[in-house]
Amino acid sequence: MTRILMVCLGNICRSPLAEGILRAKLQSNTSTIKVDSAGTAAYHIGKSPDLRSIAVANKYGIDISHLKARQFKVTDFDAFDVIYAMDTSNFKNIISLARTDKDRSKVKLILNTIVQDENLSVPDPYYGGDQGFEDVYQMLDKACTSILKELF
Ligand code: 4NP
Repeated sequence: MTRILMVCLGNICRSPLAEGILRAKLQSNTSTIKVDSAGTAAYHIGKSPDLRSIAVANKYGIDISHLKARQFKVTDFDAFDVIYAMDTSNFKNIISLARTDKDRSKVKLILNTIVQDENLSVPDPYYGGDQGFEDVYQMLDKACTSILKELF
C-alpha cells in the first residue's frame, strides 16, 4: 500500500483537484494506493471544494463534490508515504512541522514530478478567474500522470 497526501493552503482549490485526478487515473488500483488531501491552513475545515474546482473536475468527468477540507496534522507524516505540496509556501509550512529526517524526506513539490529540481509552484487560483482553474487542472493532470508512472 502506497499512501499519498496532496497538500495546498486551504484544501478547497488545488489539493482536492489533485486528489480527484490521481484517484481517477488509478481506476481499479485504489486497493493498493491510498490518496487523500489536506490544507496547511484552518480557514476552510469541513467545507466542500471551491465551486470552480468542482466545475473544472466535472468538465473532465471527475466528481470531487463529496470531498471535505481538513487541516494537515503532524500525524500525517506517519499516515502517508509521500506528501506532495502544491507550492513552495506549502512545502515550507509542511517542512516546519517535520519531526525527523524521515518526515522531511516524504515531502515533495508536486511539479517536480514533471520538471525535476525546478521547484515550480502550482499557482493559487483562489482570487483569480476560471482560466486559472483550467490551468491548474492541466498542470495537475500532467503531474498525476508522472506520479502514476512512478507507481507502476
Ligand atoms: P487552495 O486555495 O490552497 O488551493 O485551496 C486557496 C483557498 C483559500 C484561500 C487561499 C487559497 N484563502 O485565502 O481563503
